[in-house]
Amino acid sequence: MRFISIKEALEKKSGKVSLRGWVHRERGSSKFKFVVLRDSTNIIQCIIKKDKVGEELFDIADKLQVETSLELHGTLKEDERAPTGYEVEVNQFEVIGESDKFPIGADQSREFLDDNRHLWLRSRKMTAIMKIRSTFVQAREEFFKSEKFIRFDAPILQPTQSEGGSTVFEVKYYKAKSYLAQTWQLYGEAGVFALEKIYNFGPTFRAEKSKTTRHLSEFWMAEMEAAWFDLKDVSEFAKKELKYCIQQVIKERSEDLILLGQDPKKLLAMTKKEWPTIKYREVLDIIKKKDNISVKFGKDLRTEEEKAIMQHYDAPLIVTHYPVEAMGFYKPRDSEVSDEALCFDMLAPGTGVEIVGGSQRSLDVKDMEDRLKADGEDPKDYEWYFDSRKYGSVPHSGYGVGTERVIAWICGLDNIKDAIPFPRTMGRYTP
Ligand code: 4AD
Ligand code: MG
Repeated sequence: MRFISIKEALEKKSGKVSLRGWVHRERGSSKFKFVVLRDSTNIIQCIIKKDKVGEELFDIADKLQVETSLELHGTLKEDERAPTGYEVEVNQFEVIGESDKFPIGADQSREFLDDNRHLWLRSRKMTAIMKIRSTFVQAREEFFKSEKFIRFDAPILQPTQSEGGSTVFEVKYYKAKSYLAQTWQLYGEAGVFALEKIYNFGPTFRAEKSKTTRHLSEFWMAEMEAAWFDLKDVSEFAKKELKYCIQQVIKERSEDLILLGQDPKKLLAMTKKEWPTIKYREVLDIIKKKDNISVKFGKDLRTEEEKAIMQHYDAPLIVTHYPVEAMGFYKPRDSEVSDEALCFDMLAPGTGVEIVGGSQRSLDVKDMEDRLKADGEDPKDYEWYFDSRKYGSVPHSGYGVGTERVIAWICGLDNIKDAIPFPRTMGRYTP
């Protein structure tokens, strides 16, 4: 006999089926037992009748607990009262693995679900999110392949910080010290002088000392770097990448989006729109005029300000030309307005969360050295990086997509923790 998935069974609509999976829900009487069976693809209602399977097997059915694993055989028919519209009348089944009383029921606290993450992963919500994440990541691979980019991997253990010393994780490295990657970028920049157009997908680490719903200590950044690209090229490319990936998610995972309460049609319409680009100074003008929020030029935008500006947009917004003084050492000054950096962030509509950060890269070694010193760094530690500017330097640019932030946004999650199977935050590194 051949087992088929629940999804295949629902497509088959009638006839004999053999299924395997886990008990998602159960209820019964002295004559019937209803089991909602779950596998990785969907759920389906199954009915076990005493007069059909006999006393002995019915006794086993009567004791089935949530999460027991089963193989069953039966006949499929339409039933509009069943949760997915079909029911299997079981004539034979076998318990594969018994289940203790499953600790997760309805209405449990965030804390409890996080403590039991290894079990909570089986929920329909988490399953839907993990599938969307997988599709998103796979779509991104397709996108970069079709754009003729080469995948380039960099070390996770790195000799310096790159995005600010305050959030770097230090790791003992034999007798020396090293740091967990905050970004792939500095290595990516070395890579473009060989490969021109490259990308990666890998874990990055930030010792974020604040507890928010948008920060993880370990997250998967999806970065790219390209020779000959300027700020305009790279920010337009970011829009193209995200539009493609979100469209693929809609194509393949609409049911999962709906299960999470999202509207695929609305999302699709958003990807078909123009995503505007404005300068940081324009953001300050808009939120001053429309929201009466005053921000002095010179600081990065804070959560409230990002939220405020995004109340005026219904698609992602690219903000460029942030103040140099608030930006990383590698973001170049605009040659015309020297306090503005040739960089961009992409903000998500609704929440205003920064989902992408990128820039053109500075070619001015002296300026970068000064800015590193001002951050308490020793420019000598970055000599290998400055070498790229010494030997046939060319303009180049890149960006990093915060994968979990994009997933949280398109899935409508209220906490970034649910966008990754096993979250790491300041307060949690188990299970
Ligand atoms: O803006 P960030 O810090 O930029 C960089 O690291 C650049 N070196 C990337 C590049 O140009 N290659 O991080 C990029 C993105 C952010 O826009 C955000 O979406 C995400 O990474 N991000 C985080 N996501 C979850 N938790 C955190 N603690 C994050 N920090 C950044
Ligand atoms: Mg940023």
